[in-house]
Amino acid sequence: MLHAAGLFSVGVGVSDFIFEQPNDWRLLENNFEVITPENCMKPRAVQPAEGDFRFDHCDAFVAFAEEHNLRVVGHCLVWADSDKTPDWWMTENGQPTSKETLLRRMGTHIEMVAGRYGDRISEWDVVNEALSDNSEEYLRNTVWARVAGEEYIVRAFECAREAAPNALLVYNDYNVDADGKRANLIRLVKFLKEQDAPIDAVGLQGHYELDSIPYDGLELMLKAMRRLQVKVIVSELDIDVIPRSRWWADGNKYRDELRTLNPYQDECPPEILRRQADQYAKLFELFCRYDDVVERVSFWNLHDGQSWLNYFPWKRVNHPLLFDRKGFPKPAYHSVVKVLRESTLAPHSPIRDLSADAN
Ligand code: XIL
Repeated sequence: MLHAAGLFSVGVGVSDFIFEQPNDWRLLENNFEVITPENCMKPRAVQPAEGDFRFDHCDAFVAFAEEHNLRVVGHCLVWADSDKTPDWWMTENGQPTSKETLLRRMGTHIEMVAGRYGDRISEWDVVNEALSDNSEEYLRNTVWARVAGEEYIVRAFECAREAAPNALLVYNDYNVDADGKRANLIRLVKFLKEQDAPIDAVGLQGHYELDSIPYDGLELMLKAMRRLQVKVIVSELDIDVIPRSRWWADGNKYRDELRTLNPYQDECPPEILRRQADQYAKLFELFCRYDDVVERVSFWNLHDGQSWLNYFPWKRVNHPLLFDRKGFPKPAYHSVVKVLRESTLAPHSPIRDLSADAN
């Protein structure tokens, strides 16, 4: 019973087809209170061509959530990567679009999508992945940043607030607890606050790798957001047991070797599961200590068999979540429940003295 803890809400990103998968419903309802559709609400899915809105799938997803008493996180209104934004959105008469057109298209999209669901969607990832992975750079170098700089992010939050006045509005990104990108997220949030943009929370995606979880960076981020009076959401948590960072290292030279790496096809060794359980426990201890800041923790996918990390960035049998392929709880599940239970019983840790972090 993950959601029994009451310290923050616990959610999960699920298949867009969850409404056709009754075998998953028990696991879902027994453990989670809020769901994020994995792909069907993304800009490319919702508006593949200008004015051609496809809501059937999203409608079915939201209706499913309501029938099952689950809240919905909308993901996402703007995905600031070029290959995640529909092509039509970024060009105009064969040229890169003007700022005016880019922002007008964005405003229409947000109004149509967030406006359609109103209070039926309680939280929105308003902008996804706008920050650069290159530590020398601030915003990701895409048409969004080139054409409209930081302004598109401010405008996106303003439009979202207009369309969904009661929703929690989130800026969502990955690796932002790591050095380099963390400073850029803090810079962005400060800027948004200065501009009076209605940002309520940052989403730290939390796609971690076994044995290299940035606990210290995460804690620094939690403190920084507490100071800026912005909530933190851990929006897409998983712990990859087949570390993947070499995929992008040294000019991609390890890719051929990695493409065939699939060490835990038959089962995940107990020793690895133990380490994973300990690392999940340490993360949840941190989330519990900062439960005044942490608003929600969502896993990305329901069980190991459904994890996107079985395919990204190469095909392999992965074991990143709390439940195995049959939906049975793993050691990580038990360690997380233990932490939640202990924190609920003893909720008054010294860290709650907010004055300690006043600077
Ligand atoms: C992933 C989905 O899980 C996959 O099914 C899809 O092929 C690619 O996108 N950050 C995000 C999520 O914000 O939308 C991504 O989801 C995972 C990384």
